[in-house]
Amino acid sequence: MKYCWSLPKNDPWSTPFAETLLNYLEICRGDQILDIASGSGIPAFYLAEQVGPKGSVLAIDINQRQVLKSRSTQGNHLPWLRFEVGDMRFLPADLPKFDRITGNLSFMFFRPNRFDALQNLVRFLKPSGQIVLTFPSMGTFDSLWKYVDKEMSAQGFVNERKALDEYINERPSASEVEKYLKILGLEKIIVGEQPLEVATGSGIEFLEHPLLRGGFLDDIYECFQDQGLANTFMDKIAEKVSHFTPLYAIRCAMSGWKPNE
Ligand SMILES: C[S@@+](CC[C@H](N)C(=O)[O-])C[C@H]1O[C@@H](n2cnc3c(N)ncnc32)[C@H](O)[C@@H]1O
Repeated sequence: MKYCWSLPKNDPWSTPFAETLLNYLEICRGDQILDIASGSGIPAFYLAEQVGPKGSVLAIDINQRQVLKSRSTQGNHLPWLRFEVGDMRFLPADLPKFDRITGNLSFMFFRPNRFDALQNLVRFLKPSGQIVLTFPSMGTFDSLWKYVDKEMSAQGFVNERKALDEYINERPSASEVEKYLKILGLEKIIVGEQPLEVATGSGIEFLEHPLLRGGFLDDIYECFQDQGLANTFMDKIAEKVSHFTPLYAIRCAMSGWKPNE
C-alpha cells in the first residue's frame, strides 16, 4: 500500500514531537482514535491513513480557524477522519470511547488544572486503550530563562523576575505526568524525554522566531506591566543570543494503557 500522509519533513517543531509520539504509540488498522489539539492535522492525517477506512480519527481543536484549515487540506480524502471544534479539557459526556487518544504538543494547554483535564480525558479511553501525549517539558529553553533571570536581576526588575519564576515553575514536568498516570491507574506507563535543538539567529530573527515568539518569548513579555520596558529589555536580550545558545527544547512523551476491566 502507498501511504501519502506522512508527517511534514520541513517542520522543525511539530514533526519531531510527533515522531516521538509515534515511537510510543501502538496502532492497528481499524482503531478508533481521538486526536486532541489537532491543529493543522499533525499527526491526525498520518493516523487516519494508518487505521484505514475501518477505523476512524476524530481530531479536535479549540481554534475554529485551525479546524477549517485542516478540513480544507483534507478535501475529500480519508473520509473516516473528522476535524471538529472542541475543548479537550471539557469533552462532552456523550462522546464515544476510543482505542487510542493522542495529542501532539497538547499537555501544556491542559491549564489550569492539568490533572483534572487528564482524568477527564482518560474517561474516553476504552479498556486496554492507550493514551500518548507530548509536550515541551520542564527544562525546555532553560539556558534562555537563566539568562533572562540574570539580566532581570542585574537590572533590578523584582516583580518581573517573580513573574518569570512563577511561569517557569508552572510548566509541566516529566515526573509530574508520571505521577498523574500512576494515580489514574494506568498501566505500562512510559514517560520519556529527548532534547531538540532549536536554531536561532540574533536580533529580529530571535524576536520573531516562529517557534519562540508564540508561547515562549511572549511569556517573558507578559512578565512586564510596562510593554515599552519589555520591548527595550527583550531587544537587548536578542543581541546576546550567543550567551544562551544552543537552545534546547525537551521533547516529552507520556504513554499509559487503561487496564482491561
Ligand atoms: C502547538 S499546537 C499543536 C498542533 C498539532 N497537534 C501539531 O502537532 O502541530 C497546539 C494546538 O492546541 C490547540 N489547543 C489549545 N488549547 C486547546 C484546548 N483547550 N482544546 C483543544 N485544543 C486546544 C491550539 O489551538 C493549537 O492548534
